[in-house]
Amino acid sequence: MALSEKKPVPQHIAIIMDGNGRWAKQRGLPRTAGHAAGGEAFRRIANYCRTLGVKYLTVYAFSTENWKRSEEEVSGIMKLLGKYLREALADMEKNKVCFRFFGDLSRLSPELQKLCEEAVKESKDYDVQVNFCLNYGGRDEIVKAAAAFARDVAEGIYKPEDLTEELLASYLYSADVPDPELIIRPSGEMRTSNFLLWQSAYSEYVFMNVLWPDFSPEDLDKAIEEYHRRNRRFGGT
Ligand code: IPE
Ligand code: IPE
Ligand code: MG
Repeated sequence: MALSEKKPVPQHIAIIMDGNGRWAKQRGLPRTAGHAAGGEAFRRIANYCRTLGVKYLTVYAFSTENWKRSEEEVSGIMKLLGKYLREALADMEKNKVCFRFFGDLSRLSPELQKLCEEAVKESKDYDVQVNFCLNYGGRDEIVKAAAAFARDVAEGIYKPEDLTEELLASYLYSADVPDPELIIRPSGEMRTSNFLLWQSAYSEYVFMNVLWPDFSPEDLDKAIEEYHRRNRRFGGT
């Protein structure tokens, strides 16, 4: 019996796509080769999520802290993203995923920003939504939401006491997206690294020892099986 027939798959899965550098190092390859292989893993897993019936897939591709890396690595990653987005635009019909971007895109090159914009526009009618986190930081997202709310207060749209969890959430990149039930981090690291700080309040974390470029549909099945074994209480009994 297929996984999806046994128990409902999570409607929203989030993944910290980590381990590209170590994957490359193990093979004596430059780190960018690991990022290229990570891009292939993303394609594979996004496709598999579509066949499973997952509605939202949020992937952490580049954090607000990743600018600390060498200029060579950062520009290599940006080049790969451009290549990936151009291919995705050419292949929209085949992949049928709806693109959204979470993060401050203003720091990306104008060319890359335009590709992101086009990808969103061209894919808006497909139903599996991929939220691509680019120059994303959970703290940065909350700070930007707070600033946007403060602006609305200054303009008289809201009073400070109007603020509720729902209202704050409506200022986040994820405004109309349900919180992820499952967050997967491959590569053996056990931390959030500033990913979905607000949205993960009651997410189930699954940490796995596989490096992202090696991540397979079977690994996703395993993570979902682990999720199915969890007892989610949300603070109740
Ligand atoms: C994740 O892989 C990709 C990005 C953060 C851009 P890493 O590049 O962090 O790989 P490791 O953790 O060094 O192996
Ligand atoms: C988190 O991985 C960011 C992405 C996968 C895009 P990092 O490799 O940047 O996180 P740390 O440095 O190990 O915490
Ligand atoms: Mg890493």
